Amino acid sequence: MTKLLRWIDDRFPLTALWESQWGKYIAPKNFNFWYYFGSLAAFVLVLQIVTGIFLTMNYKPDSVKAFESVEYIMRDVEWGWLIRYMHSTGASMFFIVVYLHMLRGLMYGSYRKPRELTWIFGVLIYLCLMAEAFFGYLLPWGQMSYWGAQVIVNLFSTVPFFGEGLGVWIRGDYTISDITLNRFFAFHVAAVPLVLIAIVAAHLMALHETGSNNPDGVEIKKQPKDPVTGLPPDGIYSHPYYTIKDIVGVIVFCAIFSVIMFFVPDMWGYFIESNNFIPADPLKTPEHIAPVWYFTPYYAMLRAVPSFLGSQFWGVLVMAVAVLIFFFMPWLDRGPVKSIRYRGALYKSWLAAFVISFLILGYLGVVPVTVWGQFPENIPILGGADRATVVARFFTVVYLLFFMLMPWYTKWDKTKPEPDRVRM
Ligand code: HEM
Repeated sequence: MTKLLRWIDDRFPLTALWESQWGKYIAPKNFNFWYYFGSLAAFVLVLQIVTGIFLTMNYKPDSVKAFESVEYIMRDVEWGWLIRYMHSTGASMFFIVVYLHMLRGLMYGSYRKPRELTWIFGVLIYLCLMAEAFFGYLLPWGQMSYWGAQVIVNLFSTVPFFGEGLGVWIRGDYTISDITLNRFFAFHVAAVPLVLIAIVAAHLMALHETGSNNPDGVEIKKQPKDPVTGLPPDGIYSHPYYTIKDIVGVIVFCAIFSVIMFFVPDMWGYFIESNNFIPADPLKTPEHIAPVWYFTPYYAMLRAVPSFLGSQFWGVLVMAVAVLIFFFMPWLDRGPVKSIRYRGALYKSWLAAFVISFLILGYLGVVPVTVWGQFPENIPILGGADRATVVARFFTVVYLLFFMLMPWYTKWDKTKPEPDRVRM
């Protein structure tokens, strides 16, 4: 084996790659629970690619055959049901893992100097993931696939001047049709995954250049190295220490994943909506159209913004700003410390308000706007308005203020000094 490895290393930097990216990568020794989600995201990415390849072997991207071919996979293809449920459960679990991974970034200030590019690649991954989920959702050609895609593509049509042309350009037709299905298939199985893999590679290379942040925000690269071990006092090799830790994470994750996949694969309509067990019917609009849960915070914002001058474009704009604003976080945060452990009440309260807004908007995006009824007519301003819409408006504002006021509240916050050494 040693001889073979040397033979390869003389021709290809295999050992050098392994050592620089993982084997001899020096990581802070105080990673906690929140540091499981990066490796879990990588695990789910591989899972989605592998199960996706097997699904593609029996799926037919044809508006007449697509729904049937999924039923065929579920009933006749050996283990087809397992592969399909792994892929559909994997999609939702991917977003859960990525949202927790991003929340870790917000808690420990991992987006800040010198990790701005790691963060920016991360936000690009998030955008790709949304595109991937959106294209994939049309493929089973169920009622929700069809009408969900209809609603989302129509959003692009609200863009002033060239919106209508843009909608036709995306669909390749005047409605969602076989042509749309074919191109979404091409994007879902080839174009977006390729881009996604490339950006994930860039994400990890950028991180391994700067070194990882940690729950204390201590920069271990700045610590003097031990002359014998070559390690900074708070650093350990990723392998075997974090290899073992991450394997524990993967095992626990697989246990939770299996419970969902084997016992409630549709998660009561949250992971696979019940309307999607009905074939797409362009002549029959479902009573209640909502995207899958991971898009609902943004969908709630869209519905909350009133149309202005007869255009829904303002809602679309707010939704786009709510996602794109993540790119600017490294420059919005002016705090003297990175980690929430040393921040003051201001940052902690705003982060809590942001998380609560995200969750409430997520809930409001799932339910019809009429869920809480209307304000009585005799109340000034609010009279007659749907209560849920007013609440969604309030939390959309809180969500956006978390970012927009960040330069000020992070500067005024009463922080504690960051320690020189990590706390275990
Ligand atoms: C396919 C999706 C993704 C994969 C496979 C992935 C993978 C990873 C891995 C393996 C790490 C190192 C381990 C860790 O710190 O947990 C990491 C770190 C990081 N990721 Fe991601 N990531 C993904 C998406 C994202 C997204 C969407 C963001 C933010 C928008 C993001 C931001 C970060 C940051 C800031 C770090 C450095 C954290 C620190 O050192 O404290 N990642 N990522």
